[in-house]
Amino acid sequence: MRTEAQAQPNIALIKYWGKRDVELNLPAVSSLSVTLDSLWTKMSVEFSAELPADELVVNTAVGGDMLPRVSECLDLVAGTERPRASVISECNFPIAAGLASSASAFAALVVAASRAAGFEKDRLSLARMAGAASGSAARSLFGGFVELLANEEKIDVRSIADAEAWPLTVVIAVTAAGAKPVSSGEAMIRSAESSPFYSRWVGQQAMDIATARDAVLDKDFGKLAAVSEHNCLKMHSVMWASRPPIVYWNSATLACMEVVRQLQSDGHAVFFTIDAGPQLKAVCLPDAADVVRSALDDCSGVERTMVSGLGAGARLLESK
Ligand code: DP6
Repeated sequence: MRTEAQAQPNIALIKYWGKRDVELNLPAVSSLSVTLDSLWTKMSVEFSAELPADELVVNTAVGGDMLPRVSECLDLVAGTERPRASVISECNFPIAAGLASSASAFAALVVAASRAAGFEKDRLSLARMAGAASGSAARSLFGGFVELLANEEKIDVRSIADAEAWPLTVVIAVTAAGAKPVSSGEAMIRSAESSPFYSRWVGQQAMDIATARDAVLDKDFGKLAAVSEHNCLKMHSVMWASRPPIVYWNSATLACMEVVRQLQSDGHAVFFTIDAGPQLKAVCLPDAADVVRSALDDCSGVERTMVSGLGAGARLLESK
């Protein structure tokens, strides 16, 4: 029987950048994210003793670079003695371009695979397995506002507020849809090894998390905006000062930042964040979404925009 699950990507407002333990993929810093609703990855898994090797189809294309990581994740879920699996992935947004496609992919994968293997696992256990494959994926097991904790022994994740508690809107401006030149995992290791700002980054994170958590619980948009932009720019400063430097932005990313600044000075409730890619994510109150989207659509270098509210964590879909 083929089992299918869906997960949505999440966007970190306070970023995960750095690993405490590369082997166990434990984050060096806590992070805080929002889970989206209209972007999704669906993963279906079928284990079969007949298959000679794991198979992966991504948006109808066979294979792909993800297969070794998918196999490793399946080993974690179902054990290394498991039968081989056929995995089919469908994603409605650009992959590996800094839009958290690995987060939604691994979150959906662990949910589908554990059910296909006949296990009933709780959400935190599933989050730990997804997080071992990709740190940010642990957060996509939960909906709304989610914290991934920098814990010394295990991946730890918790929801701090539901999507309905504070329905923000995220407008994504895609400025270059191609795959990123350096993976975030590799870039984090380079930052830790060579950026003179890395230890300050790690040292200040608890303060930013506390500020952002309070802002979410108090629904204080201005406070969340200020700490989120600051944290994003700090993370990119760490990257820029790494050797060799890691620069994910392009000129359109900067143009989008200017657009957001202009919207802010016109009185709109919006702020930006940028991950390991050149896309800008504008987080806003729902009544600002139309004006934010049309301003970003008009920005030179923007290929397309996507809009999403906040949504739920990874879940099973009907078995086929
Ligand atoms: C910039 O979760 O992709 O998006 O654990 O190595 O797979 P790995 O890293 P990944 O890193 C995400 C980095 C980020 C910030 C964030 O999502 O918190």
